[in-house]
Amino acid sequence: MGAHFLPRDDVAIRAGYHSPQVSVEVRLNTNESPFPPPPEFLDALAAEVARVEWHRYPDRAAWDLRVKIAALHGVVPEQVFVGNGSNEVLQVLSLTYAGPGRTVAVFEPTYAMHSQIARIAGSDVAIGARSPDLSLDQGEVRRVLAEHTPAITYVCSPNNPTGMVETPETLGEVLDLVPGLLVVDEAYAQFAPWSALTLVSDDTPLVVTRTFSKTWSMAAARLGYLVGPTWVVAELEKVVLPYHLDTFKQAAGRIALDFVPEMERRVAELVEERGRLVAELVDLPVEVWPSSANFVLFRPVTRDGDSVWHDLLHHSVLVRNCSSWLGLDGCLRVTIGTTDEDDRFLAALRKALA
Ligand SMILES: Cc1ncc(COP(=O)(O)O)c(C=O)c1O
Repeated sequence: MGAHFLPRDDVAIRAGYHSPQVSVEVRLNTNESPFPPPPEFLDALAAEVARVEWHRYPDRAAWDLRVKIAALHGVVPEQVFVGNGSNEVLQVLSLTYAGPGRTVAVFEPTYAMHSQIARIAGSDVAIGARSPDLSLDQGEVRRVLAEHTPAITYVCSPNNPTGMVETPETLGEVLDLVPGLLVVDEAYAQFAPWSALTLVSDDTPLVVTRTFSKTWSMAAARLGYLVGPTWVVAELEKVVLPYHLDTFKQAAGRIALDFVPEMERRVAELVEERGRLVAELVDLPVEVWPSSANFVLFRPVTRDGDSVWHDLLHHSVLVRNCSSWLGLDGCLRVTIGTTDEDDRFLAALRKALA
């Protein structure tokens, strides 16, 4: 083999994103919706695709999509920034407000991409620990913010992978303390009882990120956004690549927003199914965390999580293996699927724990 040209030192030492994409019958590992979007959405999208001028660049500002997102949340389009999945939104945030010489704060265990994206952007990452019950520890928040003066502080609510939602009081306290931006990742907000969107204003250093990948049943499209102060959105627009959001995706997002009641029905169905799944889980020898999202974190108590994960896979059921993550010894995370999928998961889990 010839000589390799090496990447940046800080990239060379990093591992990539770990979430096995294996072919299984029951896929409950990435918190997607188990339901496709409604057929009327597909028909409307097909009609729109027929009208796309493929030889032209997309609308660089994605204005019509931003207008519709803004209307949904009662803000102005200048407060909305859209990206290729909320991951790209998080990346542009890090490129704009963090990077070399700046620090990003996270409270583990939480969504791994917050720190991963920050590091790849060249930022330092300050890691705070959650309480033993995996809730945010205000003393620890104070310590991390005072010691590291982070440019960005992340709070994920409902938190992935715990499923726990922060209260308005807790978030308000964090907001009062942050020396930079507070980014509240609300990828799962429609499953939760409240949203930090109510706190967004031009006088507040708060942005809230959302995604079309979960409740909107559109993980294939890669579309996400944030709602925040106009002065944040204006800076992000300088950093993101021109024409980053293709015409097809902008149309998919606009049309999806014509189907809000259908989305809400899917959410209600999943919340009910979550109740059923949790009720079944608590009868098994597992520890279960309360969830306000479309997934449930649990820890087998009679066997180690890693071997249970392999047993489930053997039964063609894929869940997320969190057993080696910081603070999550032996834990697994299961996405709420259809009733049939969840029954397959429960049957395989019962066998694994018998
Ligand atoms: C908390 C959280 N934020 C962001 C994302 C990324 O979503 P997207 O598909 O919009 O990039 C995920 C995906 O699992 C997530 O769990």
